[in-house]
Amino acid sequence: MAHPRSALLNVMTAAAQKAARRLTRDFGEVENLQVSKKGPADFVSNADKKAEDTLVKELQKARPDYGFILEEANNIEGKDSSNTWVIDPLDGTTNFLHGIPHFAISIGLLRDGEPFAGVVYNPITDEMFWAEKGQGAFLNGRRLRVSARAHLSEGLFATGLPFLGKEKDGERFMQRVNAVTTLSAGVRRFGSAALDLAYVAAARYDGYWESGLQAWDIAAGIVLVREAGGFVTDMDGKRKMLENGSVIAATDKMHEPLFNLIK
Ligand code: IPD
Ligand code: CA
Ligand code: CA
Ligand code: CA
Repeated sequence: MAHPRSALLNVMTAAAQKAARRLTRDFGEVENLQVSKKGPADFVSNADKKAEDTLVKELQKARPDYGFILEEANNIEGKDSSNTWVIDPLDGTTNFLHGIPHFAISIGLLRDGEPFAGVVYNPITDEMFWAEKGQGAFLNGRRLRVSARAHLSEGLFATGLPFLGKEKDGERFMQRVNAVTTLSAGVRRFGSAALDLAYVAAARYDGYWESGLQAWDIAAGIVLVREAGGFVTDMDGKRKMLENGSVIAATDKMHEPLFNLIK
């Protein structure tokens, strides 16, 4: 039987589903999208913006006083200063624009500055990941638990490769990849930080690390991993992931060895 979802999560998943309908329509029509560049190799399309508008409208209807931290539009201050949505309307824009069906809508809710609830939705696979603090993490109603694999040698890990405009620590990055690839079952780079975290929660990956991220890439996924029984820190081993945009998320057994390899 599907696990009952809180009113808050119902609001979040319904908003994600609504925004996803637009994304799915646009995904088949990528050549008709207006695409602009925010920086080198940093693209945004009107699909990202339309999806973000839909999310803001739907969430404002349900929780009029909450504020917003948004990837594409200006942030919105809310009357209720303790609740803030952190939204990435399309995580994996590069995949989306290249016709690769691996991207997601990510909706995080910060309560008093801490990740409290998260929804990550891949409209192509129709996988809805959700979690709320203290309530567990779920994928389409099935409870999630991080993997039980105990050794690096059995572990599959994910990361984000640097790219044009984000290549500054390229050499250090390759050293880290080298360290993990030679001791593990492999390293993947699929191109959506939100899904990378969701996949750790779902025991598909044993761990994930990346730096140079923004709060909207990871706010929702952090809740997913924690509620699935995993550990999340930044790359200094602290909990300042949202502030400094680095993250190491892994199972309880894999976090420390992974941290030691890449710190
Ligand atoms: C990107 C993805 C990607 C990560 C980049 C992000 P976007 O987000 O999460 O996996 O490596 O750093 O910017 O721009 O597609 O929303
Ligand atoms: Ca982007
Ligand atoms: Ca993103
Ligand atoms: Ca995005």
